[in-house]
This record gives sequence, C-alpha cells and structure tokens, in this order.
Amino acid sequence: MAGAGIAAVAAAGGAFSLLNDAAKNKASAADTTLTIPDLLEGTTSDSTTTFTLEAKTGTAEVLSGVTSDTMGYNQSFLGPTMKWTNGDTVLLNITNSLGEDTTVHFHGAHVPAKMDGGPQVAFADGETWSPTFTVDDSAKTLWYHPHALGTTAKQAVHGLAGMIIVEDDSTASSDLPSDYGVDDVPLIFQCLATDSAGDIKYDLAGYLESDLSYPLLLNGTNVDSASLSFTATKTRTRFRVLNASPSDIITIQRSDSGTLSQIATDQGYLTEATDVTSIRLVAGARAEFVMDLSADATLQAVVTTGWIRGGSGTYDVLAITASGTDTPDDLPSTLNTIDRYDTSDFTARTITLGQDGTTMLINGSAGTSMDSMAMISTTLGSQEIWTITNSTQLEHSFHLHDVPYQLISVNGEDPTGVQLGWYDTYEVVGGGSIEIAMEFTDYSDDTYMYMLHCHLLQHEDEGMMAGLMVTGDDTSTTTTDDSTATA
Ligand code: C2O
Ligand code: CU
Repeated sequence: MAGAGIAAVAAAGGAFSLLNDAAKNKASAADTTLTIPDLLEGTTSDSTTTFTLEAKTGTAEVLSGVTSDTMGYNQSFLGPTMKWTNGDTVLLNITNSLGEDTTVHFHGAHVPAKMDGGPQVAFADGETWSPTFTVDDSAKTLWYHPHALGTTAKQAVHGLAGMIIVEDDSTASSDLPSDYGVDDVPLIFQCLATDSAGDIKYDLAGYLESDLSYPLLLNGTNVDSASLSFTATKTRTRFRVLNASPSDIITIQRSDSGTLSQIATDQGYLTEATDVTSIRLVAGARAEFVMDLSADATLQAVVTTGWIRGGSGTYDVLAITASGTDTPDDLPSTLNTIDRYDTSDFTARTITLGQDGTTMLINGSAGTSMDSMAMISTTLGSQEIWTITNSTQLEHSFHLHDVPYQLISVNGEDPTGVQLGWYDTYEVVGGGSIEIAMEFTDYSDDTYMYMLHCHLLQHEDEGMMAGLMVTGDDTSTTTTDDSTATA
C-alpha cells in the first residue's frame, strides 16, 4: 500500500489546496519572533570536546491550540545546534530515553563507519552511546537525526532533528558572518502531517486519512498560525537552511523576487558566492546564503512536490526587519577551491532506485533489514562514478554517507552554477538519473558499513536503502574501536 499511497497523495494534491489557501490567510495570525535553537555547550578537557544529548519524549503545540506527542534532543521538540571545529576531537554521550531503540546519525559528516550512527549501532532505551572522532570536515552545515531500521521517519517527524555547524580556519569562514542567532541564522523546515487530535503521522497510510492538517514548521513553529519575524541587527546576515521534512521539496526565495547570494551547498562553500533567485532543497539537503539587508525583506518557502503538505503552495515564512547600519565589506571573491573530478579513470557503478508494488528497492533489494539490503563493496582510495537511475515515477532524494560527491550530470545535462558544489543529498526526479563522483578516503572497516538511501524517510524505512562497505588498509587515519553503548 505504501508506495501506491504516496502516488495517490501526489495525485490528490488538488484536493488539499483549499486547506492550504485557508492556511495562507494569516490575517489573525500572531506575530512571533523566530525561535533560534539553543547552542549546545560542550565541555573541553584533554583536547576533547564532550557533548551530552538525551533523546526523549515530550509534548508540543505543532498545531495551534492542540497538544502533540513529540520527541526531541534535550527538549521536547527538535534539538540544540552543535558547533564542531575541523580538527578537534569530539565525544558525544547520547542517552536514549525514548522507550524504543534509536541511533543518531551525523548526516554529512566524514567519520568512521562505526561512529556514523547507521542502523548497526542502534541502541536501546536506557543506554548511552558514546561515539568519538576527530572532526574531518571543512566549514559546512550538517544535521543529526535517528537512523534505526524502520523507525527513522517516525522518530524524525516527531522532532528528533538538530543542526550541526562545522567551523574551520579558512579565510572564507573568517570573512563571513558567524555570530550564531545574530547574523548566522539557522532555518530548519519541516512539512508534517497531523490529525485533528495532534497525532503526528509518519506512515503513508496515515497521509490518506481525511481529517489531516499539514503544518509547515520553521524552527519548530507552525508558520500557518504565526507570522514569524527576525530582526537583523547587522546589514549582512547568513542563513543556513535545512530541509528536515520527511518528503516535501522546499524552495526558498524572496517575496520581492530579489536574489539570494548562495555561499554553500550540503558539503560546504561554493567556489564563489552565487546570486540565485531561489534555492531548491530536497528532503535532507542544506544550503547557506547571505542577504545584504538595506531594506526589510520577506522569505518565502515554496512547497512543490507536496506529498505531505498536500499540493503546491507558496508561503511567507519569515519577515526580516533590516536594522543594521553597518556597511559590510565586499564578499570574498573566492570562498573555496573545488577541483572538478576527471572521471575518465573512475570505476563505474549503477545504482537503480526501484519499486515493487509497495516495496521500495535499491538494485532490486529492499533494505528493510541488514540481511536483505543490497551491499555496495568498495576499497579505501577508490574513485568512482555512479549512475543513479530512478526507474520509478516518484521523486527521490539520493543521500550517500561518508564522503561528499560531485554532480557529473543531472538528467543528461552538465551541471552549472551551484550544481558545481559538493553534495551529499540530491534530487532524482521520477524517470530521471544523475551521475555522481566520489572518492572513498580515510576510513575503512570490515564490520561497520555506511548507508546510501533515499532521504524521503518513508522510502528509506520501506527499503530504499543499501549498505556501503569500505574495506582496505587505512593509511591516513585509524578507525578506532572506542564507541560503546552502555546501560
Ligand atoms: Cu540523513 Cu542516512 O541520513
Ligand atoms: Cu524516495
């Protein structure tokens, strides 16, 4: 029923548009200041920074005036933002108080497979998992969320998601705004579905019920019932956008059709700031942009695919008041050096995203258990070009753990503009294909694997996930065996 369900909702998009039109009328909506997720303070000793997280249950007002059962890290819904610094060693003590298994994946981080938080390291209620590693990423915006088999959608839509900001000592980082919550602002979007009693839906059957609402949340606040505002006290403001939705595609734009200056994709800085009129993010993807605010501006979210939100719609999500009087320096002319891969000698591989009725597949196998999933095996140092072919008519969001990838082609076209950046999560339209290239560096393991999967969380839970084993001699870094779960 599952795969068919998504198609049915997509086809029925028109039926929901009335609801969305009503939701767009916010004449009576309260004015609310944008919530900035707390920064999680780490404690540093012996050059290791330790962060403490607890995955727990709670309640929150996801729909105005209605209490929903939720989950969050250290709080009832969503989680605090962590800041990591490239080259530092971090230790995370993560306690599971959910009453069911969970795991925490550091989406987009280049870490040993055992520390990556995939399904193999799921840990039980009452246990604490303590991964530790040296941060091995340039400046970028990552996020963390659950990744246990079959429960990722449920736990993530209930609120288990948070942002990770990786900082480095590059010139670009020192020149760009970085005062968290002041001129460096996280924007976490979630399109959810709830019934009138506030029950957050995560399985596809649930989306077909008739009494559902489709809240669009920004940093945990429902933008349909509150007009969110942000006062920019500096002229130049940097925004980090995360699409933490289970399915929907979200496009960010200005209401006045002005440009945004995009500085980063999923995996860090573009070579130079690039003016764009919109930024399209599939589920799981991130981007960063700056705005030089000489006047007030409004950001909009366009929900396009609308499998959950129900049809397409354009929503004013953030009214920005420009109050800065400073004159920012010119943006650095170069943010990053990206050497494009010459893939002529790369090993070619084909990954097929498929569907058998209601079961979602990668290379013909359903990854609903570790035993049934397709396994991609490679060796440390391997350079590869993968053709990701979508043999379904559904939209997918292709995510690879461990290493960033470059887009080599998108539906047969050469990449241009911001497509020339580094990605870990990219759109594969129904019947379409992308070619991506990557190099497996630093970490290998004979036991623990990385994952590759669709980041539409229902599709992932329904089997569109495969394992990736990177084996071989690790010459540059040792994969330590010091991640443990303790009761
Ligand atoms: Cu954000 Cu394997 O996931
Ligand atoms: Cu998918």
